[in-house]
Amino acid sequence: MIIRRPADIPASEITPPEVYAARRRLMAGAGALALGAGGLSGAAAQSRVKLESVRPWPGSTKEAQNTFEQITSYSNFYEFGLDKGDPLRNSKAFRTRPWTVAVEGEVRRPRSFTIEELLKLAPIEERVYRLRCVEAWSMVIPWAGYPLAELIRQVEPTGNAKFVEFHTLLDPRQMPGQRDPVIQWPYVEGLRLDEAMHPLTLLTLGLYGELLPNANGAPVRLVVPWKYGFKSGKSIVRIRFVERMPTTAWVRSAPHEYGFYANVNPAVDHPRWSQARERRIGELRKRETLPFNGYGDQVASLYAGMDLRKFY
Ligand code: MTE
Repeated sequence: MIIRRPADIPASEITPPEVYAARRRLMAGAGALALGAGGLSGAAAQSRVKLESVRPWPGSTKEAQNTFEQITSYSNFYEFGLDKGDPLRNSKAFRTRPWTVAVEGEVRRPRSFTIEELLKLAPIEERVYRLRCVEAWSMVIPWAGYPLAELIRQVEPTGNAKFVEFHTLLDPRQMPGQRDPVIQWPYVEGLRLDEAMHPLTLLTLGLYGELLPNANGAPVRLVVPWKYGFKSGKSIVRIRFVERMPTTAWVRSAPHEYGFYANVNPAVDHPRWSQARERRIGELRKRETLPFNGYGDQVASLYAGMDLRKFY
């Protein structure tokens, strides 16, 4: 029996076919993005800005943290390309100021927040969370932010608000990946209102005590640690409260593979691979994946009585 190392697994095995096809197309026109006339890749690295005050959060995992370099250079942010290094390479010139987040829909006090307002809305904590990607890799990341619930309380959802949608910026001039219809842009994700209000759901503004790097979703993203990473939308510009379950970008593009809930669940395989184990970036041996990514004691009650094989 041949044991293959993760690096030997062809991308086609762990990538939705339409994404794989689009990646081939992008690579065929390669020069454009990667080498482009000294364009994006030639730009200086994004400057690193320290956050003013960040308090430690007592609930952080004590597991070894991935390095800043690993977290920024191995990521999924399809707006900037499909390969793991593309977000870092292609997002250097991404402009994140000015930036506003519109909060609207079923709320009594709809309003926009500037990024400066968001940075001051609540005390910023450093929360070290595990991130488990649906592609069966994982990392341990010291995020900086505060519970999304702090923002939700400001806008006062009405009784009709049952779900929350998160919309990422749509700007193909700045986001070269959006010129290819891998998914229907913009990237839209969603949560049930109680999931969005859960104290673990983090409105994330930083990483390693600094403002978020562009590759990781600057200037503001979500982190939902008990769900597969794709639920944690990056570079958010709109938060909308709605009555009906939203059709999210991945559910629209491959409903048999990606569900709305997307809770980390080692017992429910992806149609094309197992979810039982994961590879922590930086390690060779795989480890067991934990239900709800190890946060079950805090979140399992949200799903009491639900068949998690059906609601994957
Ligand atoms: N958000 C946007 N807007 N676009 C994306 O392609 N990828 C998701 C999620 N958020 C994605 C996104 C996936 S699949 C993962 S695993 C995480 O971002 C990765 O976040 P990280 O690179 O900061 O670790």
